Amino acid sequence: MNYTIQIGTKIESANHIFLVNKEKDLKNFISNKESLQKIEKQLNKDNKITFVFDGENIQLYVLLGKNLEENRRLASNCFKTLSSFKIKDITISASSKEKHNTAFVEGLLLSTYTFTKYQSKAKKTNLAIQLTEGVLEQNTLDTITATVEANAIAKDFTNEPQSYLNATQYAEDIVALGKAYGFNTKVLNKETIVKEKMGGVLAVNKGSIQEPKFVIMEHKPQHAKNKKPIVLVGKGVVYDTGGLSLKPTANSMDIMKCDMGGSATVVGAMVGLSKMNLPVHVIGLTPLTDNRPGLDAVAPGDVITMYSGDTVEVLNTDAEGRLILADALHYAKRYEPEMVFDFATLTGAAVAAIGAEGIVCMANDKMKQKTKDQLNESGKAVHERLVEFPMWEEYGEMIKSKIADYKNLGGPYAGSITAGKFLEVFTDYPWVHFDIAGPAFIKAPVHYKQFGATGVGVRLLLDFLAKY
Ligand code: BES
Ligand code: ZN
Ligand code: ZN
Repeated sequence: MNYTIQIGTKIESANHIFLVNKEKDLKNFISNKESLQKIEKQLNKDNKITFVFDGENIQLYVLLGKNLEENRRLASNCFKTLSSFKIKDITISASSKEKHNTAFVEGLLLSTYTFTKYQSKAKKTNLAIQLTEGVLEQNTLDTITATVEANAIAKDFTNEPQSYLNATQYAEDIVALGKAYGFNTKVLNKETIVKEKMGGVLAVNKGSIQEPKFVIMEHKPQHAKNKKPIVLVGKGVVYDTGGLSLKPTANSMDIMKCDMGGSATVVGAMVGLSKMNLPVHVIGLTPLTDNRPGLDAVAPGDVITMYSGDTVEVLNTDAEGRLILADALHYAKRYEPEMVFDFATLTGAAVAAIGAEGIVCMANDKMKQKTKDQLNESGKAVHERLVEFPMWEEYGEMIKSKIADYKNLGGPYAGSITAGKFLEVFTDYPWVHFDIAGPAFIKAPVHYKQFGATGVGVRLLLDFLAKY
């Protein structure tokens, strides 16, 4: 569904959402004493939304909570009510101006997302939203709309099947976005990837008939706060069959179009940064390929030489993400970055550990605690919560190979950590790894998140970078 949203003085819709912080604020909006008592009775701590529908128009009354996420969820409930009555325009008023209105509006806009490209009978619908003065400031609204748009772009890419989104198409689409939003892009094709000797990317791509790509994005505003760039790296496996170590169980491949979710996070963040013109110099890197068991596919037991020159014994071709990310992390060194964040749907072990409720993350010891704290704060604010896993050296022992420098497989346990330890080898700058395998793609809708891609990480990054 599309939406339009603006701040206005005169009320143009007969449909209305009233946001209040306390029951007694209702009297600002309801003059009739009887109606006021009725609504007051209905709104309480267990029932935070009530509405009056006269067959044509609707009035919703919302008792806002003290928690941002709660208010996003209240908004998604309001959205469901609006949809059920096929409401096409709505005015929102609030009894006071504060950050909880912001969360409510964000939740409402996030709720409107749909992916209908492949539904031949889908109707185009629109919700026209008007905020009366005092709900929030124009610049706050601009931040919300840019963030929601960036999140939607990440979701669109991740929802796209690989029948459309192969590496070449994806790279082309990123270049087009760069032109539209104003960030620079450069695409390395297979010839350059071979010349550069990106052995990790080439090994994963070996079983594919599609060419790999390596896309570089840059947002470099004139008054950047940082002298050295922040680099974002995203895993762009456009489809993961597992390769010769083919994914085994029934249904395990159904959602593997989402294996470029980390890449989509980075692209979405670049879009948001550019749209808001945030004063931070950020570079995005994303290696793109599918992972297939073609005739020439890399085989378990093969030894490959990475872009960094390190050798890796590939013992499981389904542990491909770390191979392409390692090359991108090595590439990032040329920028002498302030810090590097990578986003990847990397391990089933992260899903097993915390499901879709948060992001598993790890950091090397060059990363400042203060930055980690700020990331955590952003994670809480946008409700993309972080869980930090340890990087003890014992885990590093588990990825040492008998015949090469490293192997791409750890032991039977701690699979997310051994994957993180593998990546750490290719970093020499402050670095955080975000394993988004759990939250990147969900099989049932929850609150303002629809079935499928979530664009997780985009709102986290934009919140963090805006406060940077
Ligand atoms: N793309 C998968 C991880 C994944 C799992 C993403 C579930 C989204 C949802 C990754 O490439 C993978 O297959 N990892 C293996 C690694 C193992 C072979 C060491 C895994 O986690 O099982
Ligand atoms: Zn895999
Ligand atoms: Zn994968």
